[in-house]
Amino acid sequence: MTLLEVEDLRVRLRTPRGPAAVVNGLSYSVGEGETVAVVGESGSGKSVSVLALLGLLPARSATVTGRALLHGEDLLTMPPERLRQVRGPGIGMVFQDPMTSLNPVLTIGRQLVEGIRAHGEVSKADARRRAAELLGEVGLPDPRGTLDRYPHELSGGMRQRVVIAIALSNSPSLLIADEATTALDVTVQAQIIDLVERLQADHGTGVVWITHDLGVVAGIADRVLVMYGGRCVEDGTVDDVLEHPAHPYTRGLLGALPDLAAPAVDGEVPDLTTVPGVPPAPTDLPPGCVFWPRCPVRSDPRCETQQPPLAVVAASTGVLPHRAATWCAEEAPRG
Ligand SMILES: Nc1ncnc2c1ncn2[C@@H]1O[C@H](COP(=O)(O)OP(=O)(O)O)[C@@H](O)[C@H]1O
Ligand code: SF4
Ligand SMILES: [Mg+2]
Repeated sequence: MTLLEVEDLRVRLRTPRGPAAVVNGLSYSVGEGETVAVVGESGSGKSVSVLALLGLLPARSATVTGRALLHGEDLLTMPPERLRQVRGPGIGMVFQDPMTSLNPVLTIGRQLVEGIRAHGEVSKADARRRAAELLGEVGLPDPRGTLDRYPHELSGGMRQRVVIAIALSNSPSLLIADEATTALDVTVQAQIIDLVERLQADHGTGVVWITHDLGVVAGIADRVLVMYGGRCVEDGTVDDVLEHPAHPYTRGLLGALPDLAAPAVDGEVPDLTTVPGVPPAPTDLPPGCVFWPRCPVRSDPRCETQQPPLAVVAASTGVLPHRAATWCAEEAPRG
């Protein structure tokens, strides 16, 4: 069952440097219990694309078009009142900076208990018990004591775990995590990924997980969507994309293009490799393929003038098509 269906999402922002085309026709879907990892360099439009879905961009400067159906209802056109209703219990959100999600004047316990009780008939005492349990599950050492503390009394990593606990407390049908575990150490990260997977198994939660950590992608994702210049340049099952990257940008990120690859460090799960050059500014996108200015294999005359559409790449290891937006569609040999 499809939970979230994003179609042709476009976001324009007004900036001092002129209009910025930050998201340019993004389409993807998330099924029940499925995890879609969104990867790409900083500035590729990952955060803005999810903020747009949630109605969290400043209305004065942002123009959002397209469709984003959650359970068949369009998040982009529903009245603000309805959006708040849908967002509250239905969508768990974790952003990189935990202070944006926590209320500084309320105790952790109060914020968690409110979330838990908003969802259904739960007594205060039961909600408090559940709150402490959740704090234990996200790896906080003193769950009961933490309930009575204020956000500023916790470290950044602890606050982030509290935000994750709040996001999961409602058993949301959709979880959106934007670099949610980036600042946490690997043991805690693994614990949180386990917790999310349990939630998915129990409640069929669909997950959109934005990260630059390949270890996390390999561990959590069913599907991967690679963003560049506000576009999806490649998507497919996690096996297709990680093992047979087709787009030169993806191959650069994964270290699969020898020219672009950083030397591998033995025994370590790598982060995305740094691709030489800088991403295009959304106020000044190139007219052809968005990756053209940095592409080490550009040769087709169309590269400079036309944006290649997403097309299915020859073979696929899964039931989902493996697509890439490139004329060259170089594939790593399968075997
Ligand atoms: N509120 C804003 N006003 C103007 N430009 C913005 C705003 N938020 C993000 N941008 C620009 O949009 C682009 C995409 O940003 P973002 O979605 O945060 O990228 P990512 O999450 O992939 O790192 C960047 O060029 C950024 O500078
Ligand atoms: S379409 Fe051309 S410029 Fe774009 S990635 Fe492919 S070869 Fe490179
Ligand atoms: Mg971001």
